[in-house]
Amino acid sequence: MSITVTWLGHAAFSLDIDGTAVLIDPFLSDNPVARVSPDEVEADFILVSHGHGDHVGDTVAIAKRTGACTISNAEINRWLTEQGLENLHAQHIGGGYHHPFGHVKLTIAHHGSGLPDGSVGGNPCGFLITAGDKKLYFAGDTGLFSDMRLYGEEGIDFAALPIGDNFTMGPDDSLRAIRFLEPKVVMPVHYNTFPVIEQDAEAWARRVEKETTAQPVVLRPGESTTL
Ligand code: NI
Ligand code: MN
Repeated sequence: MSITVTWLGHAAFSLDIDGTAVLIDPFLSDNPVARVSPDEVEADFILVSHGHGDHVGDTVAIAKRTGACTISNAEINRWLTEQGLENLHAQHIGGGYHHPFGHVKLTIAHHGSGLPDGSVGGNPCGFLITAGDKKLYFAGDTGLFSDMRLYGEEGIDFAALPIGDNFTMGPDDSLRAIRFLEPKVVMPVHYNTFPVIEQDAEAWARRVEKETTAQPVVLRPGESTTL
């Protein structure tokens, strides 16, 4: 089992899980830091954490071009159906399902989820993905919550946490989240896309090394790490 995690900037990821392409929150065409266009990314599955434009992003165009299956909550999937998508898999918070590339469980996120046209997007979520012997946690947009301890009990190899503050956790609360989650490796997301969420990721990484047991990984958009 080989898993390559590529950060596309903001909260967008492309995972290569033994040759299956899994996109998460593919916000690319309007993303000032993204370096790939929605016309060139591969996708077999697209996971959407909530309805905000910087997460739904280019999901509709990419799914139409590739035929990828979208995995999201029932409300967002219903909206995606209204946009013309036909290959969808709805789940909801606390529910897991064995997809061909691995098991996906939707997790709590404390945030909003309104869709770009004002439609109701249900509750926002994060994702716990189990592929082979690896467990990956993508928190989505969220503030700190103590039930992260429960996700930590599952044994997390890789966690992607927001650190931008203002809309989500900031650096201080992300350090507390890391102590709840106890991931082996942790990566910061949802920062430096816009001026209001500017953060010093290197300073954050030094604190992670000093104050937690996790290994920080700071990527630039387009860079990858292999688990
Ligand atoms: Ni959001
Ligand atoms: Mn966001």
